[in-house]
Amino acid sequence: MTRHYLMCRPDHFAVEYAINPWMDPEAGADREVAIRQWEGLKSTYEDLGHRVSLIDPVEGLPDMVFAANGALVVGGRVYGARFTHPERAAEGPAYLEWFTANGYHASREAEFTNEGEGDFLTLDHLVLAGTGFRTDVAAHGEAQEFLGRPVVSLRLVDPRFYHLDTALFPLNGHNVAYFPGAFSVGSQEVLRNLFPDAVIANEDDATVLGLNAVSDGTHVVINAEATDLQLELKRRGLEVIPVELSELRKAGGGPKCCTLEIRG
Ligand code: ARG
Repeated sequence: MTRHYLMCRPDHFAVEYAINPWMDPEAGADREVAIRQWEGLKSTYEDLGHRVSLIDPVEGLPDMVFAANGALVVGGRVYGARFTHPERAAEGPAYLEWFTANGYHASREAEFTNEGEGDFLTLDHLVLAGTGFRTDVAAHGEAQEFLGRPVVSLRLVDPRFYHLDTALFPLNGHNVAYFPGAFSVGSQEVLRNLFPDAVIANEDDATVLGLNAVSDGTHVVINAEATDLQLELKRRGLEVIPVELSELRKAGGGPKCCTLEIRG
């Protein structure tokens, strides 16, 4: 099925503050390399037949490339992001403005802190929601009321996996892949109950952000270094498309972070 994604070119990308354990401002990052890798991701989507829309990058917002955090869009309804850190606060209104300008009028400015699709992952019949580092659990209830979809809260406990989309991704509308160690004991049990047939990723693949992947149900766009996970996905009949996004990983992001899905 064809997807519609919103992306933001990393024209102002940099690692100049540290708001997660992946970021080292001393070491920085190479913007030219990041742009080249990001262009590769964008053309991967286009080659798969997906539609990619672009939002203009804003100077002074080096993390704006991580479009997933900009909103959550389900059934044409846009639930706006409200960022945890002041460094990224201006991204929330910038993304909401893009949606309004592009004809999405069913939008809501969030009352509670939430980082969009970084912490909300949508399946056919429910939305999985992360909390613990960024998104306030109160936002889970707010999203459920606004979207009319059941939202299941999951608690993240490992700071390397500060967003839900660093620890779990939907394989399709009804199953997921995840790294259990990123979740509290109770949330691991919830995941086992909901998804008895899930793909379980190992720590090596999780720590190259292998779970920050994007599946359209047939193809999985995934960090090249996550080798064991790729084998298992192939074994499950999925077509694996490795991408190189090492420079963006220096800010704690991968393919999914760069991709906000617009669900019509
Ligand atoms: N440096 C960004 C931050 O810490 C990375 C965001 C990654 N996005 C994501 N969807 N996991 O906020």
